[in-house]
Amino acid sequence: MEMSLLKALLSNISLFLKLSYLEKINSEPIWKYYRRAKEILKLLKHIILNAITGSDITSDEVLSKAFEELCPSVQELLEKFETWQPLLSKVYFVLKVEFLLSKIQNSSVDIFQFLKSSNQRLPNDLSSTTLEHCLQKIKHVGYEQTSSFIIEAIRDQLDSPGSSSEILVKIAESLSLNSKQETLIEAMALEKLKENAEVAEQIVEVEFIGQLIDLVTRMHSRLVLIKQSQTCSPVLIPPEFICPLSLELMADPVIVASGHTYDRDFIKKWIDLGLTVCPQSRQTLAHTIFIPNYTMKALIANWCESNNVKLLGPIKSMSLDQPCPLLETEVKKLVDALKSPSIETQSEATAHLRLLTKQSRDNRIKIARCGAISLLLDLLYSPDIKTQENAVTSLLNLSNIDSNKTAIMNANAIDPLIHVLETGSPVAKENTAAALFSLSVLEENRVKIGRSGAIRPLVDMLRKGTPRGKKDSATALYNLSRFHENKARIVQAGAIRYLVDLMQPSAGMVDKAVFLLAKLATIYEGRTAIGEEGGIIPVLVEVVELGSERGKENAAAALLLLCTYSNRYCNLVLKEGAVPPLLALSQSGTPRAKEKAQALLSFFRNYRHGNAGRG
Ligand SMILES: *[C@@H]1O[C@H](CO)[C@@H](O)[C@H](O)[C@H]1NC(C)=O
Ligand SMILES: *[C@@H]1O[C@H](CO)[C@@H](O)[C@H](O)[C@H]1NC(C)=O
Ligand SMILES: *[C@@H]1O[C@H](CO)[C@@H](O)[C@H](O)[C@H]1NC(C)=O
Ligand SMILES: *[C@@H]1O[C@H](CO)[C@@H](O)[C@H](O)[C@H]1NC(C)=O
Ligand SMILES: *[C@@H]1O[C@H](CO)[C@@H](O)[C@H](O)[C@H]1NC(C)=O
Repeated sequence: MEMSLLKALLSNISLFLKLSYLEKINSEPIWKYYRRAKEILKLLKHIILNAITGSDITSDEVLSKAFEELCPSVQELLEKFETWQPLLSKVYFVLKVEFLLSKIQNSSVDIFQFLKSSNQRLPNDLSSTTLEHCLQKIKHVGYEQTSSFIIEAIRDQLDSPGSSSEILVKIAESLSLNSKQETLIEAMALEKLKENAEVAEQIVEVEFIGQLIDLVTRMHSRLVLIKQSQTCSPVLIPPEFICPLSLELMADPVIVASGHTYDRDFIKKWIDLGLTVCPQSRQTLAHTIFIPNYTMKALIANWCESNNVKLLGPIKSMSLDQPCPLLETEVKKLVDALKSPSIETQSEATAHLRLLTKQSRDNRIKIARCGAISLLLDLLYSPDIKTQENAVTSLLNLSNIDSNKTAIMNANAIDPLIHVLETGSPVAKENTAAALFSLSVLEENRVKIGRSGAIRPLVDMLRKGTPRGKKDSATALYNLSRFHENKARIVQAGAIRYLVDLMQPSAGMVDKAVFLLAKLATIYEGRTAIGEEGGIIPVLVEVVELGSERGKENAAAALLLLCTYSNRYCNLVLKEGAVPPLLALSQSGTPRAKEKAQALLSFFRNYRHGNAGRG
């Protein structure tokens, strides 16, 4: 037997014994398994040091085989315990560890039995009695056979779904999965493992973990049923009023990033545990801001009142004196909260309005009617970056209704919007550009926006914005360019230079950039700027050859404008090899593309003819 094997084994055992803090984690099943493994490994360590290393029995074949089997198991066991964390799947951990322990136990029994039978070759202090004593100890290191319960439960589940709650109780007890929260965490940990197995294409494993998830889900449902049967409340609580985490009537319902609603204290506890996923949808929460679910809060308060149920907590303080439709009151409250001197209240109300404006047209109409527009515009100057972002996003959604576009413009929206373009978060900037685009759909707005100085910051965004922001600003600028006066402003703000970069396929917005360029080429300033910039013509020719239908059409239109304007451009276009792709386009493009391509080709014919004539 290799001595290095024994050395590695001893070193792994020492490392394992150093993890003794695991024994002190009482709330988890891990300590039980740690202790049991420790008992066996200590005996092994003792026997290796005292009877094996340096003795000639190491060359024995039976013994070598036992150690060869033992080594990787101990290594794996060590890894399992080293990487253990409270949020990992307990079910999975226990299945693996019980299997490893069983293997280690079996190899250890083989080793001790062998040593006993070859007693004469051992040092004196390892008597046959001592060895027998160790052997008995190892054989009797018991561990609960939780694995076999789990396997049995899965088999039951496949045979007859819904049976054997007894076995679920046993599993729950040995793994300390006794609360709804614990079972939810467990289910999520398993989902994660399943995902990993899916990525690694381990089909059998994926299926097995799927069965474990079903099992844990059943354990969860069982706890829910028990809880429900224990509630002595004489009235049945509507299920939507119950927090999925606490399974109790919600005192302070809040919406999390995934859009699901929970009772504040419970979801807070959940997140404090380090869990960053939504307990219901299991999707990662983009942020951990809670938005009060005012509708739900009001509904619960209403229900409590009419059912004479007392509810502790802040909900009691909600005034419900007006019997008017709920949303209307809620919207009024929210809109009033925008005027609050507290930044926090403003912020929560804005976040909530953002959600409501997103939900339905009906909400948008009500919110605009309650006077939210001018208050939201004021909040674009908020020092709180999130409030600013939520306010501009709400305005974006409100602006989707045409009559509100006018209302927004009449409330002097441009200056505050420009302020966001200059100071906002990337998302706020994107949504501001989108709002300007939405507002510029109305002709009178295109005039106002152009004259109020919004074009320069939009052009800046073409250069500095996020990819999404660049698209939004290009779209806004395109629509603004439909008002003739604005084209020169766009050129003067330096747009041509940035459009060259945006015409690279990697920017993902070739069509938009070419579109805008074709528009700008219709004015003198535009053509001059294009000429000064250089590098545009080759890209346009490339788009004629390789672009989308729409891209080809606009690139051909832009080239036609450039060639008819200047001989120099015409030479450049010809030098770039534009004729073959134009010929192709004149045969198979859209009607407008064909028309532009044919016009260009005939222009080239006359041009060459003219030049040759002049010779
Ligand atoms: C250990 O030995 C027992 C009894 O011989 C056997 O049932 C069990 O499957 C063995 N464990 C492993 C992991 O091989
Ligand atoms: C408030 O909670 C209810 C129940 O969970 C949910 O249906 C509703 O969508 C929530 N409101 C918002 C604005 O998300
Ligand atoms: C409202 O805004 C959201 C972004 O928050 C957007 O995804 C949604 O499409 C908008 N709805 C409408 C109708 O514009
Ligand atoms: C917003 O649009 C709706 C629907 O057209 C309209 O009823 C409402 O009066 C508009 N709001 C404002 C403030 O103009
Ligand atoms: C500009 O706005 C109009 C609506 O008036 C829309 O149909 C058009 O698609 C917009 N232009 C661009 C480039 O998105």
